[in-house]
Amino acid sequence: MSRRAPLAGAALAALLLAFTTAGAPPTWSEGELKTLKSLWIAQLGAPPADPSNRVADDPAAARLGEALFSDARLSANGKVSCASCHQPDRAFTDARPTGRGIGAGARRTMPVAPAAYSPWQFWDGRADSLWAQALGPVENPVEHGFTRTEVARVVAAHYRGPYESLFGPMPDLSDRRRFPLRASPVGDAAARAAWARMTPADQAAVDRVFADFGKAVAAYERTLKVRPGRFDDYLAGVFGAPGRHASLSPDEAAGLRLFIGKARCATCHNGPLLTNNGFANTGVPARPGAAPDHGRAAGVRQVVDDPFNCKGRYSDAQGEGCDELEFAVVDDPAQVRAYKVPSLRGVRRRAPYMHAGQFATLDQVLDHYSRAPAAPEGVSELRTLDLSADERRQIVAFLRTLDEQPERRP
Ligand code: HEC
Ligand code: HEC
Repeated sequence: MSRRAPLAGAALAALLLAFTTAGAPPTWSEGELKTLKSLWIAQLGAPPADPSNRVADDPAAARLGEALFSDARLSANGKVSCASCHQPDRAFTDARPTGRGIGAGARRTMPVAPAAYSPWQFWDGRADSLWAQALGPVENPVEHGFTRTEVARVVAAHYRGPYESLFGPMPDLSDRRRFPLRASPVGDAAARAAWARMTPADQAAVDRVFADFGKAVAAYERTLKVRPGRFDDYLAGVFGAPGRHASLSPDEAAGLRLFIGKARCATCHNGPLLTNNGFANTGVPARPGAAPDHGRAAGVRQVVDDPFNCKGRYSDAQGEGCDELEFAVVDDPAQVRAYKVPSLRGVRRRAPYMHAGQFATLDQVLDHYSRAPAAPEGVSELRTLDLSADERRQIVAFLRTLDEQPERRP
């Protein structure tokens, strides 16, 4: 007996060594486990309430919003809807470096499902709710190229029933002298002139329908689900939760360890959506030939002045629950060329990357983070990481485990 013990010990040691080098389940420190749990989709819950939108969680509003989301009559050429760029079968994006509607845009189309969790919308956060966001593309000349009086007319002609049961009677738009066909305070010169001729009361009646249109669209967007990835099935196993379990390959696990550790990704990409909902200058180069883009520095000014913000007259918040806007900081140098920290859920299938699609692949993204070049304007918050080729590859392998899996049957 006594002669066999050292042998057994050696065999055990060899076995342990084999395990740790060839795909034994990774072991995590207590601190790492805490971080991992915070990234788990099981922590996500429902989107936070939106006090500025009284129909935010009304199923009838969501049904109306779903129809509006894909209605191309809401555009100057009858061909563009929200779904033209936010394509449901492409994780609500469009695989282009920058969005394309009536014309070519300057920024990349963003995914819609995680947006309900975010206090700020757009890459520069120039809207403070989903409903205020929805008004922007409609009157953007290169997106829908429409006007708010035209929106009110489409709603009156095709959605009067569901609209009125949610929001009350529509204004009578039949008098074209009072309600011109194309009028908007932010449109082209003719639309602005037509808007200026309207009475303040008629302008407000149109603005109300326009805001309600946004609120219905927002109610629909709030129903879109962010789906778990293999990463979450791995965590379900780690934390002993019921349901499907999965493992990570040694490379994926090493990438995850770098992501939450040495590479510092989780300082910005944290929580179950892998975003802190903040803005950061990460030194991403401008697209060659693009007009100047100051990011959050410009966006924060716009949201503070937006008549459709949480404190505006079309908000249902009545001045309560607008803390984000209340405490928004203007004139912070760190906001120059800072952009919204995007969720990394499903990121692999959303190439190209960054606010103007500057990088075609995740390898290019990791190369950028590794080098951390100086920002074209303002100061980058990144520090050089000097990641090896293996480390970059491992982080990319980890990012792929965030791919959203197809809907599961209950
Ligand atoms: C022409 C393409 C295009 C159309 C049409 C379009 N979008 Fe977008 N969407 C974009 C782009 C590009 C951005 C980022 C714009 C920016 O930051 O300036 C964006 C941003 C968003 C965001 C912000 C997400 C976030 O996380 O901040 C939401 C929500 C959204 N769009 C919803 C809509 C809705 C609703 C409609 C229809 C009323 C719509 N979009 C129409 C291209 C489009
Ligand atoms: C200082 C905060 C910060 C850190 C640290 C950070 N990121 Fe980011 N990340 C951002 C911001 C902001 C953007 C968008 C920048 C832009 O569009 O110009 C972004 C964009 C991305 C994108 C593109 C997503 C998309 O949809 O376009 C990926 C992928 C990404 N980060 C991964 C990482 C990885 C991996 C690390 C660690 C090596 C990391 N990030 C570290 C803030 C950060």
